[in-house]
Amino acid sequence: MYRVASIGGDGIGPEIIREGKKVLDATGETYGFDIEWHDFDIGADRYLRTGEVLTEDDLHELGKFRAIYFGAIGDKRVAPGILEKGILLRIRFHFDQYVNLRPIRMLSGTVTPLAGKGPEDIDFVVVRENTEDFYVGIGSRFRGFQKTTLSVERELYHAEFNLDIESDADELAYQIGVVSREGAARVIEYAFELARTRKKKLTSVDKANVLSEIYGLWREVFSEQAKKYPDVTTEFSFVDAITMWFVKNPEWFDVVVTPNMFGDIITDLGAMIQGGLGLAPGGNINPGGTSMFEPIHGSAPKYRGLGIANPMATIWAGSLLLDHLGEHQAGAAIINALEKTIADGVVTRDMGGSASTSAVGDYVSQAIRGS
Ligand code: IPM
Ligand code: MN
Repeated sequence: MYRVASIGGDGIGPEIIREGKKVLDATGETYGFDIEWHDFDIGADRYLRTGEVLTEDDLHELGKFRAIYFGAIGDKRVAPGILEKGILLRIRFHFDQYVNLRPIRMLSGTVTPLAGKGPEDIDFVVVRENTEDFYVGIGSRFRGFQKTTLSVERELYHAEFNLDIESDADELAYQIGVVSREGAARVIEYAFELARTRKKKLTSVDKANVLSEIYGLWREVFSEQAKKYPDVTTEFSFVDAITMWFVKNPEWFDVVVTPNMFGDIITDLGAMIQGGLGLAPGGNINPGGTSMFEPIHGSAPKYRGLGIANPMATIWAGSLLLDHLGEHQAGAAIINALEKTIADGVVTRDMGGSASTSAVGDYVSQAIRGS
């Protein structure tokens, strides 16, 4: 018996989570375990009703679970950033979910926009650092600032670029990225361990040629860790270059480890090459704590309630959740069932079909029962 928290959230979130739970329940029946779901009312509706985004009490209650199944948040009635930062990022940071695991794998039967590439070429995992970098929230905006206000930044700019930013700027903003030795080491170590279970090749992403302080440290930590894993082949790639290689030669990659913001960007690209955002899942993992599994797409408010949203990314996130709980066989069964469902043409509009959200969930569940 597993106890799992679930947060449907906003937009299409509740619909896709409903299908995900359906599939996980069917998987449990077939593979001999039960899931006891604990639903949390978190998202725009509650915020508009009560003014609460995420309370200390919510965090305390969520902390009692090893896994959270998460739909999507974001709603037009709420200013951008409030729910994203107040719910999704807050959970990631609060529970120190330092690994954001994002498989980029083309399931058989899906269509990639990359000509001449197939499932044998597109099968890697991005390990995105999930608690540092430009996501730490340190920054400010200044209007009519004084000469003395920004001495540290001023020196930095003078030293590097010889710019006199006080002279005529009447407004400026800055945001600081942070990489710590420990923060980089733990996620890089996770990626090396993962690479060991796969093809033993690990690519590190950075921009150390320009942002040499933070990504210089990242690179240094990567090189140190690499010494502990002589059996894993390593390489570095600058983030701009890797976007090019993802498109041109996706078959080069096995495990890719990246700082937070670059990971955000390259995994949307990854989602596209694997067949679309409707298929891309993610896990926010704290190996010793509370982890959270979600589709990487957003809440798509305009499709809410129409029954046409693709639940496959969420169902796949359910497979990652089972993997995390140690139910590897059951997790793999979900992937096989997704491939069967795609092969049988039971897919939503975004994948060229006409099946409803719930018809996909039903079909995947049946496929699992028959497995
Ligand atoms: C993602 C999303 C989030 C992120 C947003 C919604 C805060 O884009 O999970 O990739 O930037 O990490
Ligand atoms: Mn993103």
